[in-house]
Amino acid sequence: MRRTASIPLALLATGAAGLGYAAGFEVRSFRLRRAELPVLGRGSRPLRVLHLSDLHLTPDQRRKRDWVRALAGLEPDLVVNTGDNMAHLEAVPAVLDALGPLLERPGVFVPGSNDYYGPVFKNPARYLLPDAGERRHKGFLPWQDLRDGMASAGWIDLTNARGRVKADHREIELVGTDDPHLHRDRYEHVAGAADPAADLSLGVTHAPYRRVLDAMTADGFSLLLAGHTHGGQLCLPGVGALVTNCDLPRRQAKGVSSHSYGGRTAALHVSAGLGTSPYAPVRFACPPEATLLNLVAQG
Ligand SMILES: [Fe+2]
Repeated sequence: MRRTASIPLALLATGAAGLGYAAGFEVRSFRLRRAELPVLGRGSRPLRVLHLSDLHLTPDQRRKRDWVRALAGLEPDLVVNTGDNMAHLEAVPAVLDALGPLLERPGVFVPGSNDYYGPVFKNPARYLLPDAGERRHKGFLPWQDLRDGMASAGWIDLTNARGRVKADHREIELVGTDDPHLHRDRYEHVAGAADPAADLSLGVTHAPYRRVLDAMTADGFSLLLAGHTHGGQLCLPGVGALVTNCDLPRRQAKGVSSHSYGGRTAALHVSAGLGTSPYAPVRFACPPEATLLNLVAQG
């Protein structure tokens, strides 16, 4: 009898310890990941792109704000923010404070669902299930104020838009969409071949649904950046992500990969992001991250 009782107790203790680690330590264990991508023309010198995503910031998250502010010390040539900045009605000043010195550098952004709508409680187990297509929202977040704050600093709003930015004297052609997870992407309004004369052609979206990646790749955009997946958020060591919360394969849930469509191939980087919903403040084997992408010449 004693033996049969000890097994569930041990499992319970292990589960509780794992949950405590995931909620208490890993979710605040911010990391800077570095990656090198050969997407520039032959002979080009490197270009450094800081990719931020999924801050899900609340006003009381001082440590996360300070960590993001300190990233300005990397002196990136370009900052790309792929959305889901807020998790609180009063988060705009906190987000703008976190981005503070980064806003002085060239930057671009797109929104995610958690810029438009406040977080809602979900059974955390649902996060590990396939997307059933249901979208529940609670209240509107002041996205316009955050958008205006970033835009007034000179960052380019790529919400279903094209643009152009100069970074370290290089010409970068840009295309972006509104959040595909909310079916707000309107790529057909911005479609068109990327300019081959640009030093880099960059596609940006929040949720890396394949229809958007397909369209950007077919148009010749050579580097695609997205967030949304949280890298799977609750991962299994040695296995990786169990879900991507979109139609991207699990093996591409975070980091560098490639996407092919229409006879072309683009480099893809998906950020695991820096936050979580306040109703599911846990990460496991998937620490919160920002990424410094070192773009180099093709070999
Ligand atoms: Fe997110």
